[in-house]
Amino acid sequence: MRAVAKAQPNIAIIKYWGKRDSNRNLPAVGSLSITLSELFTEMDVEIDEALKDDLLIVNGQDGDGMLARVSSCLDNIAGHDRPAARVISKSNFPIAAGLASSASAFAALVVAADAAFGQALNRERQASLAGRSSGSAARSLLGGFVELENHADDIVVKTLLNAEEWPLKVVLAITAPGPKAVSSGDAMEISRKTSPFYDRWVEQQAADLTEARAAVTNRDLSKLASVAEHNCLKMHSVMWGSRPPMIYWNSATIACMQSIRDLQSQGLGVFFTIDAGPQVKAICTAEHEQTVRETLTATAGVVEVMVSGLGAGAKLVTA
Ligand code: PMV
Repeated sequence: MRAVAKAQPNIAIIKYWGKRDSNRNLPAVGSLSITLSELFTEMDVEIDEALKDDLLIVNGQDGDGMLARVSSCLDNIAGHDRPAARVISKSNFPIAAGLASSASAFAALVVAADAAFGQALNRERQASLAGRSSGSAARSLLGGFVELENHADDIVVKTLLNAEEWPLKVVLAITAPGPKAVSSGDAMEISRKTSPFYDRWVEQQAADLTEARAAVTNRDLSKLASVAEHNCLKMHSVMWGSRPPMIYWNSATIACMQSIRDLQSQGLGVFFTIDAGPQVKAICTAEHEQTVRETLTATAGVVEVMVSGLGAGAKLVTA
């Protein structure tokens, strides 16, 4: 009747941007990500027959803004005639700011709700249901390097390498901690409908995925860096070309990219990626983590820097 689960966000190296089917939230493209170890969301789901409606608390505050998405995720797991639940979510990092908090939140929610409602779903089904709520959440069911495959009628994830097989580090430079103005779900629909670059983006994704998959399998950081930065900037070009345009960056975002370019020209193994927010994620070898951290901390406009290794998929903490 009550279960707690914990999940880490993931950072896409090859991005998901665009839906094939917005009712079922099926992505138009495959994607490839790394699951983090240090950032997390913990979800506590308790079935309470005395409650009339679901109740959501997010980091100690009323979570009404997210309640509809949470309730519909619970409906997908346990059916519409299920009893109401009290859901308490806690994250140790800024939420709704382009740090993939919806990924860790919905991955943890599915695992906790599955146990609380006694559904005994397998991991594939859990990933598919998490993806219905947030496309990227499906990837946080698994650890390490994860591919979300491009299937026409379901959300399917698989592990390419475990975290310890290529223990890269991620340095996250926070340039503005507040919530974003347009959710990624809404923004990608605007891109699909209006961006002249959208079709080419979708068309080229398979080639980017093939290149990235090979780079991951061969643990080749410079090949991964090249395709990852290309894919990230291409996704943002799709957004910039949308009407209205979606520009999530600020001046510090660009300053961080420049800092990373400078480190690359000094021969350091590091590359950047940016999601639907102004934060910059630098992915680097463990050997260069300290220099990358110090450089981004000293970059103009950076308000906070967090460091994470790669971690495991969502798991039940108590049942
Ligand atoms: O899962 P959503 O709806 O929050 O979309 C995530 C979109 C990006 O973070 C920009 C890219 C990705 O693949 O995670």
